[in-house]
Amino acid sequence: MKTPFVFGRLAKENNFTDRKNETAHLVTNFKSLINTIIISPRRWGKSSLVFKAAEIARKEDTTLRVCQVDLFNVRTEEQFYAILAQSVIKSTASKWEEAVANATRFLSRFVPKVSLGSDPMSELTVDLNLEELRRSPDEILDLAEKIATEKKLHIVVCIDEFQNIAAFDDSLAFQKKLRSHFQQHENVAYCLYGSKRHMMLEVFTDYSMPFYKFGDIMFLDKIKTPDWVNFIKETFERTGKSISDDVCEEIVSRVQNHPYYVQQLAQQVWLRTDKVATLDSVDESHSAITAQLSLMFDTITQTLTNQQMNLLRAMSAGEKNLTSKAVMDKYNLNSPTSISRARKALVGKDILDNIAGVYSFQDPIYAYWLRHNLYLFP
Ligand SMILES: Nc1ncnc2c1ncn2[C@@H]1O[C@H](COP(=O)(O)OP(=O)(O)OP(=O)(O)O)[C@@H](O)[C@H]1O
Ligand SMILES: [Mg+2]
Repeated sequence: MKTPFVFGRLAKENNFTDRKNETAHLVTNFKSLINTIIISPRRWGKSSLVFKAAEIARKEDTTLRVCQVDLFNVRTEEQFYAILAQSVIKSTASKWEEAVANATRFLSRFVPKVSLGSDPMSELTVDLNLEELRRSPDEILDLAEKIATEKKLHIVVCIDEFQNIAAFDDSLAFQKKLRSHFQQHENVAYCLYGSKRHMMLEVFTDYSMPFYKFGDIMFLDKIKTPDWVNFIKETFERTGKSISDDVCEEIVSRVQNHPYYVQQLAQQVWLRTDKVATLDSVDESHSAITAQLSLMFDTITQTLTNQQMNLLRAMSAGEKNLTSKAVMDKYNLNSPTSISRARKALVGKDILDNIAGVYSFQDPIYAYWLRHNLYLFP
């Protein structure tokens, strides 16, 4: 039997739990063409949420098209235009013949080469003439608006890993250009999100940046324990196994409600369960996952400076008042300035998150591993 939990892929259908308010909010924004920015720590469910809301919004409004762009591998402005053009063309055509016709019609100046794979619609790629692209990228930025207007459609362009644009050459000029086009669009809205929370915050909440006040910012919360408990219970029962509330709660609290890890841990417990899940199996599963990740954690930890290590030591021990003299003496922290420098670097390395001024570990299993292995490091 296929295992019922999902991690590392989008959570869909009965694998998607709760987020009722966020889903409704996003569906409304999509249908009303309100620009939206979604910010959350890694793997809390941004991409799954956008996918879910897009599906619902599309069903409720037949003139709405949702275009999904993922900047994961995109490093340059040219690559950005190319992937944007291709995604817009694909999402506004229902058949590949229409996509090819649209590419030829709306992108004629870029002499597009359209290639089709064995499944023409999902493997359709549009190659654009780069020279022309560099000369007049504006047309690509307005492509969605142009198609929407001509075809009397509304389009929501969802851009995942949006923070990658901050690493383009001359990123600030690019961001200015992007914003000045996006904000003129009347039939197109944008939903921008990404997995590097600190970089997303810089792009969207720093008033000196072009995307400041671009749209409605949604900060995702973690999924609450009672929702997780229902979800885990139902999934066990659906597959002929049972699990008590206590064991579910243990799964959730072990990984501090972190969506990806809740699913992974629940999966490991499910695999170890014949009929009724036990607390012991949560213990074993948690150890197994930690062991599996330990090589990676070790590698990350080797890259840290002494001050960063000392700060993590203090945090792991649950110290709250890090800049007090007693704590600084105990953990060899040099000064409040060096603490804040170390914190900033750890946020940059995606080890800590700064949520409204409170610093916490991004990865609950790394925090656990570190607590138990700190003695290994000088
Ligand atoms: N609503 C949900 N219900 C159940 N599980 C979820 C939900 N959202 C996310 N998850 C779990 O978390 C994992 C990560 O979700 P997703 O990829 O959507 O997060 P993300 O925030 O986009 O991650 P990243 O920051 O890496 O881009 C999923 O594979 C799934 O295991
Ligand atoms: Mg994602």
